[in-house]
Amino acid sequence: MPSKILVTGGLGYIGSHTSVELIQQGFEIIIVDDLSNSSTEVLEGIKKITGISPEFIKLDLKNKNEVNQLFDNHPDLTGIIHFAAYKAVGESVNQPLEYYENNIGSLVYLLQAIERKGKKFSFIFSSSCTVYGQADQLPITEQAPIKKAESPYGNTKQIGEDILYDVTRSNALLKVISLRYFNPIGGHPSIEIGELPKGKPQNLVPFITQTAAGIHQKLNVFGDDYPTADGTCVRDYIHVVDLAKAHVVGLKRMLTDEQSENFEVFNLGTGKGNSVLEVIQTFEKVSGVPLNYEIVDRRSGDIVAAYADTSKANKVLGWQAKNDLEVSLKTAWEWEKKVRNI
Ligand code: UD1
Repeated sequence: MPSKILVTGGLGYIGSHTSVELIQQGFEIIIVDDLSNSSTEVLEGIKKITGISPEFIKLDLKNKNEVNQLFDNHPDLTGIIHFAAYKAVGESVNQPLEYYENNIGSLVYLLQAIERKGKKFSFIFSSSCTVYGQADQLPITEQAPIKKAESPYGNTKQIGEDILYDVTRSNALLKVISLRYFNPIGGHPSIEIGELPKGKPQNLVPFITQTAAGIHQKLNVFGDDYPTADGTCVRDYIHVVDLAKAHVVGLKRMLTDEQSENFEVFNLGTGKGNSVLEVIQTFEKVSGVPLNYEIVDRRSGDIVAAYADTSKANKVLGWQAKNDLEVSLKTAWEWEKKVRNI
């Protein structure tokens, strides 16, 4: 399949793992990234794993002229996987306009540039299970209603999906798959790439690995009085390589005209829910490192439980997560140890 694919945010956490999978499956890719939450060192990791140095362009997608120029300079692009976005929930509450400008503005400019070309184009959008809020039924299917977003970040994912849906109705040449990620964790088994949060991590697994590495004195567990088996929140933790592979499958589906509709949505998770305490215990088991943690108050905005019904992705995409929580946490820990020289 001679396809040239644009990967925006391709040096970020999920973007870099997906870039590796794309290259390994024979795609030619161009990575664009503004380096706001990544670094060019990631390119080295991608090269070490794949033996290929993908083309990289430092670009801010908020710059409409540069986005148009990018498409003019690469007329052979046939698809895009759009990862580039801000993703810190708390920050989005304090700086909503930056989130709307970056996450929505960039999406609109990309779609305008694609439309200007007047040709068939495949688009994969990074969405999130955050669009469901606290779902009324578990596991969560793609039919679950979209709840009012808890944060501007979450709202940018909902609005992004709405924009893409509207554009597929006006432009029959555009094909879209929106992938709703549950909780991506872990790193590449080669330990050449992994999650590199800038500043203090907000997400559970990088906080666990950093605490085990001695960077934080203790992990705060946000609440143990939730209506779950052990009182802590439940999430669906999916290995980032499994997640990355689903992007390639989705892309191929569009490029070979297999879609049943031009806008499709898929949940990407393992289908299994684990509590915060289960994650801690599993981490201690696979790492052999006891974790210093303390139960503290609930974090505002947290939902009780979310895990995916993955049957649509299983059936329609023929995709399934292969790695379990142990593998995911082990690779997260191996990566942390490498980064910290432990
Ligand atoms: C968060 C975002 C979600 C986003 C996702 C991306 C919120 C409310 N939601 O999901 O929109 O798509 O990240 O990865 O921020 N926890 C602790 N201690 C910590 C950190 C987390 O106990 O130091 C708990 C949380 O309360 C939660 C679980 O661990 O129960 C997972 O938290 P996190 O990794 O932040 O993911 P989400 O909140 O599910």
